[in-house]
Amino acid sequence: MSPESTELKALVQKITDLPTLPAMMATITRLMQDPRTSAEELGRAIATDPALVSKVLKLVNSAFYGFPGRISTITQAIVILGFSTIRNVVLTTSVLKAFNKNGSHAFDVEKFWEHSLLTGAIARSLAVEREANFIEETFIAGLLHDMGRIVLSQKLTAEFDKVILVKEKANISQLAAEQSVLKLTHGDIGGWLARKWNLPIPFVEVMRLHHSPLEILAQEPPAQRDTANLVFLVHAADALSKGIVEGKVQFSACAAIDPKVRADLKLEEAGWDRFQLRTEEEIGKARAFLEII
Ligand SMILES: [Fe+2]
Ligand SMILES: [Fe+2]
Repeated sequence: MSPESTELKALVQKITDLPTLPAMMATITRLMQDPRTSAEELGRAIATDPALVSKVLKLVNSAFYGFPGRISTITQAIVILGFSTIRNVVLTTSVLKAFNKNGSHAFDVEKFWEHSLLTGAIARSLAVEREANFIEETFIAGLLHDMGRIVLSQKLTAEFDKVILVKEKANISQLAAEQSVLKLTHGDIGGWLARKWNLPIPFVEVMRLHHSPLEILAQEPPAQRDTANLVFLVHAADALSKGIVEGKVQFSACAAIDPKVRADLKLEEAGWDRFQLRTEEEIGKARAFLEII
């Protein structure tokens, strides 16, 4: 589906109370776009929000980053964490605040965030394993990949309930039911939301294409290789998160990954034990991250 299809335009017009991201998000994005911005400058902007300062300091001193020393200034924290982590903290906090309640009674918001956390942690684990150069982004992209589902359940409740009805009656997947009722999927809604929020392009594409990852390769002009990698990593992590048994990722769950993506990521049984251990650790870190922010 093209980003601006008629079905999508008509559907999103029904959303009357879409949460907005805080002004701080725009400020940080603007500062990040200027390569001359120093950690002190970003620190001054963040200092205007004491709650954010305390979150960033807690985070940098937490197990999530494994930084041994006690970091006490925001400038030091920015130097250690990097600009994009700070932006990700603001983004994640705002999203969790905006979408933390149940919409439709058929939607379990706790289960949703658990799935999101697992997908983020597994995606990060895959990125670490592959020595990708966008590890933080991978975690946040995984965490936010299904935002379209939460928008559908909380802001388009009548449509969501119709989807569930068709899903149960016809005994089909959620995705197939969305396609049949709405002529689009939560991927299209998530992509729309990410564009509306001016999120970086790789996040837009992950939200839009995590169920049809190969579409990223067919784009004109071609997507950046990092964007395609991120879509592939989150697609794989989404599938693996659904097959977790007692906190452990199972090799058998690879069957649900698109074969081309699986080959591209070189997901093989050899080395799986190591990956499983690393992923357990990442899941623990992700829980710590979400408790702090
Ligand atoms: Fe999804
Ligand atoms: Fe998902």
